[in-house]
Amino acid sequence: MDVIEAIRSFRSCQQYHSRPVPPEKLKSVLAAARLAPSQHNLQPWRFVVVQDDERKRLLAQASPRGKLMAEAPAVIVAFAVEEDIPVTIGGYISAYPLDVARAVDHLQLAAVAEGLGTNWIIEFNEEKVRTVLHVPEGIHPIAVIPIGYPAEANGGAKPPGEGRKSPDEIIAYNEYPW
Ligand SMILES: Cc1cc2nc3c(=O)[nH]c(=O)nc-3n(C[C@H](O)[C@H](O)[C@H](O)COP(=O)(O)O)c2cc1C
Repeated sequence: MDVIEAIRSFRSCQQYHSRPVPPEKLKSVLAAARLAPSQHNLQPWRFVVVQDDERKRLLAQASPRGKLMAEAPAVIVAFAVEEDIPVTIGGYISAYPLDVARAVDHLQLAAVAEGLGTNWIIEFNEEKVRTVLHVPEGIHPIAVIPIGYPAEANGGAKPPGEGRKSPDEIIAYNEYPW
């Protein structure tokens, strides 16, 4: 599958099959995340793969979207390493989650190519996630990513790309016209 096809067919997975994710597929999506570019090549990301049912259950309690975490056969939690992110964007806004977001995007597109569904959850209680996964100071959860084969109905997920703004609403040339 080429990258444009993966981008076009992506949708956030709303319901997972309980079938386990084969280890080689997990490795493949994590390998794609690892290859993401980052500022100064600092690679300020870490990933914890949670497959243990009890740990997943506890993680699920940290989010109003916990059902997805409990039901998916695996959950990948992506973290940012604070000391590796010294810069701002244009000198005014923290670049904190940027690199990790790039890696998560790689991961989600690679998952499409592997026939897997993912979602990206930011609605979670940071302290609870820290406690469940024994996360030290200076490391921050950026994305909780349930991953697995999409259930047949997929929780009524919309067709890929539905609800996106038109090109005219978001793209302009030469100056900012809105
Ligand atoms: C950075 C980011 C954070 C998101 N956080 C959540 C979340 O906390 N809960 C949730 O249900 N979906 C979350 N999503 C999924 C979006 O709601 C979803 O991508 C959007 O509605 C478009 O649907 P689609 O991905 O199926 O095209 C997130 C997506 C992104 C990119």
